[in-house]
Amino acid sequence: MSGHGTPIPMTSRKSGPLKGVADVPGDKSISHRSLLLGAMAVGETRVTGLLEGEDVLATAAAMRAFGADVERLGDGEWRVNGVGVGGFAEPEDVIDCGNAGTGVRLIMGCMATSPITATFTGDASLRSRPMGRVTDPIALFGAQSYGRTGGRLPMTVVGAKNPIPVRYRTPMASAQVKSAVLLAGLNAPGETVVIEAEATRDHTERMLAGFGAEISVEDTDEGRVITLVGQPELKPQTIAVPRDPSSAAFPVCAALIVPGSDVLVPNIGLNPTRAGLFTTLIEMGADLTYENEREEGGEPVADLRARFSPDMKGIRVPEERAASMIDEYPVLSVVAAFATGKTEMVGVHELRVKESDRIDAMARGLEANGVTIEEGRDFMTVHGLGPDGVPGGGTAAARLDHRIAMSFMVMGMASQSPVSVDDGQPIATSFPIFEPLMTGLGATIERSTA
Ligand code: S3P
Repeated sequence: MSGHGTPIPMTSRKSGPLKGVADVPGDKSISHRSLLLGAMAVGETRVTGLLEGEDVLATAAAMRAFGADVERLGDGEWRVNGVGVGGFAEPEDVIDCGNAGTGVRLIMGCMATSPITATFTGDASLRSRPMGRVTDPIALFGAQSYGRTGGRLPMTVVGAKNPIPVRYRTPMASAQVKSAVLLAGLNAPGETVVIEAEATRDHTERMLAGFGAEISVEDTDEGRVITLVGQPELKPQTIAVPRDPSSAAFPVCAALIVPGSDVLVPNIGLNPTRAGLFTTLIEMGADLTYENEREEGGEPVADLRARFSPDMKGIRVPEERAASMIDEYPVLSVVAAFATGKTEMVGVHELRVKESDRIDAMARGLEANGVTIEEGRDFMTVHGLGPDGVPGGGTAAARLDHRIAMSFMVMGMASQSPVSVDDGQPIATSFPIFEPLMTGLGATIERSTA
């Protein structure tokens, strides 16, 4: 899993109107958490709508390695028989999390307070990403970790034999760090407290409550204070995973920039900690509406309808919105190229440590396609060229980053000349049906061999 095969270059060319219904896959964040919490519950958790992308499949394999019984029953339908909090077995071999930062960081949290040792690795992208943000707080529980220079994978984590609960303020806006600490807190006696200055996606908190843990969240002057009582017995759940707003972003943004388009993207989870992109697009003047708004499994859900929007204007995206759309800046920067005026994205330094340095990856790829961008440590500004002003014609490096590859495929659907990426394989980590889904709406995406 940690290697990738021969690169698959992909090219996307100017498309006729995109029309139809885009059934995007299940939410990646919730899919990972369904498997992890299912593995730590006592009894059988049933999951439907699980994202069967490479990232989540790596987490399923990891949970088996830690002793849970994880079985695929059908399309997106899974069964997890958990071992209970503190019941993880020591894996016999190295845990390969592939491309998944969420997978590895959350799993490290889950095992950090059990008396077992595990060694983690991943693909070249994951091996370059910082793990200190998780190994620092799990050390406070008593876990030890030994990795490469800079806190990189491969890394061995020795779980705490006698874990102590912690009170931890996350030093960066990161749901992965928050979640790793809470998951470690599950097997520590007493109360574990996490304080985050800005709200990040709260699926872990919601799902822990759903599995029967005692958890409370309070908004205070210090920030969001989350208190978890350790050593609960987690009760197995039936989980219907909502569809992923981060995947919905691609057909939505494509419809906004391709003339004549009208696309319906049904059943999208619109948890406010995830929906920042859609708010931003509407502020830019996008013809994007929420239809059939409802609540499912405690999460707000709606059908998104996106239509061609030739009058979008660049805006300054408020910094405090960054956490709620952190994975969507790459595709927003593509939409921004088709808007009029400047789109300023600020407070986005976390983009530098995602599957790739996403500020650099987007800047270089946009430049290669005739778009002007300014960038700094924590900002990027895209100079819009209007609905038919983007030249295209370039090749972007995907850098083992699914969202970079998909963003440039969307760009090619509306630019004057085709846009290519050097490798479309990473798309399978989060959106394995991206190509057939987009071509089914009317897009033209071609593969060529290197
Ligand atoms: C995720 C949190 C975010 C996000 C990632 C999924 C999660 O990462 O970018 O795709 O499921 O918790 P950070 O915690 O690093 O911001």
